[in-house]
Amino acid sequence: MKINVLFSNLNLDDLYFTGKTCVVIDVLRASTVIVAALANGAKEVIPVNTVDFAVKVSGDAFRSQTILGGERNTKKVEGFALGNSPLEYTQDVIGGKSIILYTTNGSRSIVKAKFAENLFIACFNNLGAIANHLLSLKKDVEIICAGTNGGFNLEDAVCAGNIIAQLSLHKKEIQFTDSAIASSLLYKTYSKSILKMLKNTDHGKLLIENGFVDDLKECAKLDSTDVIPHYISGVLKKLDLDINKAKKTGNNSNSLNVEEK
Ligand code: MLT
Repeated sequence: MKINVLFSNLNLDDLYFTGKTCVVIDVLRASTVIVAALANGAKEVIPVNTVDFAVKVSGDAFRSQTILGGERNTKKVEGFALGNSPLEYTQDVIGGKSIILYTTNGSRSIVKAKFAENLFIACFNNLGAIANHLLSLKKDVEIICAGTNGGFNLEDAVCAGNIIAQLSLHKKEIQFTDSAIASSLLYKTYSKSILKMLKNTDHGKLLIENGFVDDLKECAKLDSTDVIPHYISGVLKKLDLDINKAKKTGNNSNSLNVEEK
């Protein structure tokens, strides 16, 4: 098992991810929003890479079941029902709905990794569940930091570093690349106060300026859920860990119904 961290995906072709096991991180705030939406009962989240495509996808026969969400420059996109604050994605608003999500870096990084064999979404809220699941898969992993405008950002690297720190407890079977080791060192530096770290990042400061300080508190929560968003055929759904376990042990008597929740 070899773990790599990509601090940027700017120069990579979409085909680089073909057949790989990948985890996309956009702590502020797309991956935290996706985890919140699925934890609060959304049917699915459909990440898209342009606003035009978001509008197109929402304009089908199931319009009443879909909600457009996302941001441009941290603010709700004109005409969208929701912005990109995890606090907006409450059960009463998004329960049972399909969310079509466009964000500047996060949703686009997910779409870029669409050819991955396994693609999961991580944020500080679900790191324990992600680390355990990666250990159970025993595959090489690419952790993709969405970053900011194709460049490095601290919050995604620190979040990746938490995963590396957890996996390194099983060091014997796992190899870590230089970027993975660097991210785990960053995590060690900032682990005492994730919220303080978020408040001091470039994007954290911008969110505070724009009135989203409560979002930072939400994004800083460690292990508040075990929801793992799993991307299949263009759609993110909650990974059903029980079905996955049954598949592994061969104890899956209902194999025709193996579906994500
Ligand atoms: C992004 O994808 O760039 C972010 O999620 C931006 C944000 O809403 O904070």
